[in-house]
Amino acid sequence: MYTTKSLKKLALLGAIEKPVKISSTGFMHHISASSKTAARVLKQLEEEGYISRKLVVGGQLVQLTNIGIELLKKEYVDYQQIFCKDYADLELYGHVITGLGEGQYYISKEGYMSQFRDKLGFKPYPGTLNVRLDGSSAEMRDRITLIRPVVVHGFSDGERSFGGGKCYQIEIEGIKGAVIIPDRTHYPADLLEIIAPVKLREMLRINDDDKVRIVVRDPQRCE
Ligand code: CDP
Repeated sequence: MYTTKSLKKLALLGAIEKPVKISSTGFMHHISASSKTAARVLKQLEEEGYISRKLVVGGQLVQLTNIGIELLKKEYVDYQQIFCKDYADLELYGHVITGLGEGQYYISKEGYMSQFRDKLGFKPYPGTLNVRLDGSSAEMRDRITLIRPVVVHGFSDGERSFGGGKCYQIEIEGIKGAVIIPDRTHYPADLLEIIAPVKLREMLRINDDDKVRIVVRDPQRCE
């Protein structure tokens, strides 16, 4: 019951950026509980991995862990859903990974290229940038499909057939691009494949493991 309330208070006290010094009696006022309850809550938050604690003279140094921060972010997204239905942009965070090296082959097929040019309004760099989404962003991945998809049809090049898929227009670090989801493939829930008019690794000076921010404008726009 006290988990998110306490984490929120600690975050407001600055415990995301650096350890903050608190005492159980000081903390009890923040969460409107007895000092005994406050002490128990802090102990429990530590045991559950949401905070790290170090006892010092006159109190304890407390800082939110990544798990704690993720929990608050999830809460934040829920509130966005509740209060900002009509205009909240969806923000996803992840890090760059290397894929199987197949993107280049598929994206450069003229049967796809011409559709990207016509329907997305740009000629993609031949390849896909693979992004592994972080915890809470992975949970929100499917909200991308709330926006209107740009449908890419399958085709045959005379030798073999190529499947269709859907593109969703996004911005990655401010650059317009699209998430591409082939119809026939099943992805791990935390993976995104992104196409863009430029080579993102060069334009954004990013490499494997670098963090990127992906924004989906107006995810509620579709009925
Ligand atoms: O090997 P992988 O499947 O990750 O890549 P690919 O789809 O064959 O793309 C070739 C390279 O270009 C990879 O390093 C991609 O991450 C990168 N890329 C990029 O930087 N920007 C794009 N718009 C598309 C691909």
